Amino acid sequence: MHTILCVDDEENILASLQRLFRKIDCKVFTATSGEKALTMFKDQLVTMVISDERMPNMKGSEFLGRAKELAPASIRILLTGYADVTSAITAVNQGGLFRYVTKPWDDNDLLTTVRAGLSQYELMHRNRRLEEQTRHQNEELAVLNQTLEQRVAERTKALEAHNEELQKLYELLEKDLFESLDMVLAVMEAHSPRLVGHSRRVAAHVEGLAPFLGLVEYDAKIIVTAALLHDLGLIGIPHEILDKPDPLLNPAERALLQEHTRVGMETVTALSRLKMEGPIILSHHERYDGQGFPSGLKGAEIPLGARIIAVVEGYDHVLAPSYGTPIIALEQDAIEHVKAEQGKAYDPKVVESFLRMLSGSCREARTVTLKDLGEGMVLATNLSTPQGVLLAPKGTILTRPMIKRLHQLPPDKMPAHLEIIPKI
Ligand SMILES: [Fe+2]
Ligand SMILES: [Fe+2]
Repeated sequence: MHTILCVDDEENILASLQRLFRKIDCKVFTATSGEKALTMFKDQLVTMVISDERMPNMKGSEFLGRAKELAPASIRILLTGYADVTSAITAVNQGGLFRYVTKPWDDNDLLTTVRAGLSQYELMHRNRRLEEQTRHQNEELAVLNQTLEQRVAERTKALEAHNEELQKLYELLEKDLFESLDMVLAVMEAHSPRLVGHSRRVAAHVEGLAPFLGLVEYDAKIIVTAALLHDLGLIGIPHEILDKPDPLLNPAERALLQEHTRVGMETVTALSRLKMEGPIILSHHERYDGQGFPSGLKGAEIPLGARIIAVVEGYDHVLAPSYGTPIIALEQDAIEHVKAEQGKAYDPKVVESFLRMLSGSCREARTVTLKDLGEGMVLATNLSTPQGVLLAPKGTILTRPMIKRLHQLPPDKMPAHLEIIPKI
C-alpha cells in the first residue's frame, strides 16, 4: 500500500487532504512542519510527499529537497499559492519535483495528479526491479564466465579419468582374454602336448608374417589368436585317430577329424570376445583352389586369416607330419612343399610373403644357458639330449611348464647351451 506524507503548518489543510485521500487506497501521515516531517522518513517507506511551500522556518521547496535525499524514489508534490508560482516552477525544474499544485486546489485535479504520481512511482519501482534483476543476472553471467574455463577443465579432467577407467577395463579384459587363452591351451596341452606345440608355432609364425602382409595390429591380433586356437576342435578326438597318419584313416575317422573346424568355430564364437576368430578357424582347411573342407570355398572367398594359417600350418605339418610322429623333415622340405602348393592349396600372395619372411628372418638366433630360458622364446634348432633323444623340435615356443620340465631334467640329459630366437 502506498504511503503519502502531507506537510502543512495549517492543521485544517492537513485534515482536508486526509479526507480527500480516503478515496485512494493509501496510508496518509501528516506533519505540521518540515522539521517534524523529516523525522518520519526513518520509520516509513514514503511513496509520496506533498508539502505546502509557505511554512515558517523551513520552506516547502527546501523541505522537499531534503526529503529527496532521504527517499530518492519518492514522488514529491509542492502546494503553492499563486504568488509563489515562479519559485515553484524553479523547484519543479531544479529539484526534481513531480508537480506543483496551486492553492486552493480543485479536488479532482489534485486526485488526478496524485494518482498519476503513484502510477509513476509504480512504474519506476517496476523498472528498478527489472534493472535489479538484469544486474543480478549479469553478475551471475560474469561469475559463470569466470568459472566456465574452470568447469571445462574439470569436465575434461573427468573425461580423462573416465577414459583411463575404460582403458584399464579394456586392459583387464585383454588380460583376462589372454589368461583364458592360457587356460584353453593348458587344457589342449593336457590332451596333446604336440597339438599345443603345433598351435604355438603356427601362431608365432603368423605373428611374424603379419608385417610382411601389411596387416594392421587389430587384424593381426585376431589372426594370431585364431592360429593359437585353430585346432581346438581336435580336443576329445581319441589319440588313436589323432595320431594316425592320414593315409591310414578310414572315411568315418576322416569325417570325425574334419569336424574339428566346425567344433572349434562353435566353441570360440560362444565367447563374444572371439567372434571374429570363429570364421577363420572354420575355414583353415579350405584350399585356395576350392578343394578343401568344410565348404569348398575358393580364393578370396576364404577369410584372409584362414588363408594365412593354412600356409603356416602346412609348413609346420611337413616338419611334424602328425601329432604322434617324430620330426624327420628338413626345413627345406617344408619350404618346397609350400612352394609346390602355391596357387593350389595356398594363396600365392601369402606364400610369397611367408617365403620372404623365412629367407629374411629378421630375428637372429642366440645361444643361452638353461637358466636364461624364458617364456615365448623360440627354439632355433632341435633340442635334443646329449644322447640324441629329441626333446623339442626347432620352432617350438617355450612355455612356462615346458621350461619347468627342462629344469627338472638331470644335468646329463640336458645340453649345456641352447639356440633360441628371442620372444617376438
Ligand atoms: Fe593345425
Ligand atoms: Fe586343423
